[in-house]
Amino acid sequence: MSQRPRVFATRALAGDALRELGRSLELEVWPEPGAPPPAALRDRTARADGLLCLLTDRVDAELLAGCPRLRAISSVSVGVDHIDLAAASARRIPVGHTPGVLTETTADLAFALLLAAARRVAEADRWVRAGGWRPERVWEPDLLLGRDVHGATLGILGMGAIGQAVARRGRGFGMRVLAWSRTRRALPELELEWAPLDGLLERSHFVSIHVPLTEQTRGLVDARALARMRPGAVLVNTARGGIVDEAALALALREGRLAAAGLDVFAREPIEAESPLLRLPNVVLTPHIGSASQATRERMAQLAVSNLLAALRGERMPHCANPEVY
Ligand code: NAP
Ligand code: GLV
Repeated sequence: MSQRPRVFATRALAGDALRELGRSLELEVWPEPGAPPPAALRDRTARADGLLCLLTDRVDAELLAGCPRLRAISSVSVGVDHIDLAAASARRIPVGHTPGVLTETTADLAFALLLAAARRVAEADRWVRAGGWRPERVWEPDLLLGRDVHGATLGILGMGAIGQAVARRGRGFGMRVLAWSRTRRALPELELEWAPLDGLLERSHFVSIHVPLTEQTRGLVDARALARMRPGAVLVNTARGGIVDEAALALALREGRLAAAGLDVFAREPIEAESPLLRLPNVVLTPHIGSASQATRERMAQLAVSNLLAALRGERMPHCANPEVY
C-alpha cells in the first residue's frame, strides 16, 4: 500500500498546480461539476491527510471530528470564514489561505463595481439592449444621470491588503479617502484620513467594504449604519455578504436614501431568487468574481498547493490563517 499522503481536492483548479501536487502524493479530485455535496466532502476528507478546498466548502467542527488523519487544510481563497478555525486549531491542523496574490485583481473589481454603480453602467446597458435608445432620444439632458467619482469622498472599511489597493485606485481618481479599520497603520503614501466608523459613514459618497467576515464584523453594515450614510451615497461590497444587512440595504435603495450599490458577495450564494436586491435597477450584481482573472486564479492555486505541501512535509505553511498551531 502507498505511504504517500492522500489529498482530497474539492475542485479542479486553474493552471498546473494540481498536476504538481499529483506527482508527489495520492490525489483525488472531486470529479463532478460544482462543489461536492456535504456528505461527499465528509466521506472523502475522512480518508485524507490533506484537504484542498474552496470557499464554498464548509469545513466545520463536525466534519473535522470525522477526519482523524487530517493534517492540513488549504483553501484557495484569502477569506477563511467557511472554516472553523478554532476547531482546526484545537486539532492542531494548520489552515492555509491565499493572501496577496489576489489583492489587485479584487481591488479592480471593487472599483469596477463602484464606477458601474455610480455611472449606472449596467442599467444603461440594459436600456440600450431593450431598445430604449431610439432616434427621438439620441441625447437627452437628463438621461441616466449618475454620480461623479472624481473629487468624491471614498470611505474604506478594513485597511488591509485589498482596502489599501482600493484606496490607491481612489487616489488615482482624485478621490479623498477616509479609512476605518481595527489597526491604524501609518500609510503616508495613501494620503488618507483615519475616521471613526460613524464619521466615515456620514462623510463618504462611496463606502467600500474590505473587512473579513468574523463574529465581530457580521452585520457591521446594518440598518443603523446604513441610516448613518450620506443621502445618495453608494455602497460597494466585495468582502462577504454577511457583513451587510441585505434587507435593510434593499429598503435604503428602494427608498432612494442610498443612490446605488455594487455587490459581488451575498449572505446566501447564489443570491436567492426572492432577494429584493434582484429587483432594484440601482444595484449592480456580480457572482463572487473578485479574484476571477486567469492569472490570479493560477497564482491562488499555486499558493494553495504550496501551503498544503509544506504542511504535509511537516513544515510551516507559507500563509497560515491559524498560526497559533505552530
Ligand atoms: P486583510 O489584508 O487581512 O485585510 C482585512 C482588514 O480588515 C485588516 O486591515 C484587518 O485589520 C481589518 N479587520 C479585521 N477585523 C476587523 C474588525 N473587526 N474591525 C475592523 N477592521 C477589521 O484581507 P484582504 O486580503 O484585504 O481581504 C479582505 C476580505 O476580502 C477577505 O477576508 C475576503 O472575505 C474578501 N475577499 C473577497 C474576494 C471576492 O472574490 N469578492 C476576493 C478576495 C477577498 P488588521 O490590520 O488589524 O488585521
Ligand atoms: C474570495 O472571496 C476569497 O476570499 O479569496
